[in-house]
Amino acid sequence: MDVSRGRMIFLIGFMGAGKTTLGRHAARRLNIPFTDLDEYIEAQQGCKVQDIFAEKGEAAFRALEAAALQEIHHSSATPGIIATGGGTPCYGDNLLMMKQMGRVIYLRQDPAILTGRLREHKAERPLVAQVPDAELGAFIRDLITKREAWYMQADVVLERGSLGLEGLLEQLTGNS
Ligand code: S3P
Repeated sequence: MDVSRGRMIFLIGFMGAGKTTLGRHAARRLNIPFTDLDEYIEAQQGCKVQDIFAEKGEAAFRALEAAALQEIHHSSATPGIIATGGGTPCYGDNLLMMKQMGRVIYLRQDPAILTGRLREHKAERPLVAQVPDAELGAFIRDLITKREAWYMQADVVLERGSLGLEGLLEQLTGNS
């Protein structure tokens, strides 16, 4: 099996798109390593992402995020799947760095579906935690529109219809 010709695979996309869940399952099926960038930062810092936002601010989180990507770049002996945070490709040189390291796959999900999912899990997401439910849909649509300037530069855009595990595995293995 030729998974991305031995290169890293980065999953990008909005919060709630399924980057972590799909990435973890795909890595298990392909028997390759999996890293979730937020979990990597949390393990390194010894606290949750929301605490980093609350105590040090978003700019500090973005610096940690970029540094974590650099570390993965330098330490990665074995290619694997990396699930990024929703903002990762939209800051600094992160997208360029990911494209140099491997293949970038955008999990593109419908804003209405994302809104429904995030409404249930607002507390863990500092960017939306304070947004009232009535404004959440508009907030998410606006942010996706801005972020698609980066997301759509992915090597592959997986549209919602092919967003399941099998769709992702097809992309990773070239099997259709
Ligand atoms: C963020 C998304 C989060 C996390 C942080 C910021 C964003 O990751 O990195 O709360 O800017 O969209 P998930 O996409 O895994 O929720």
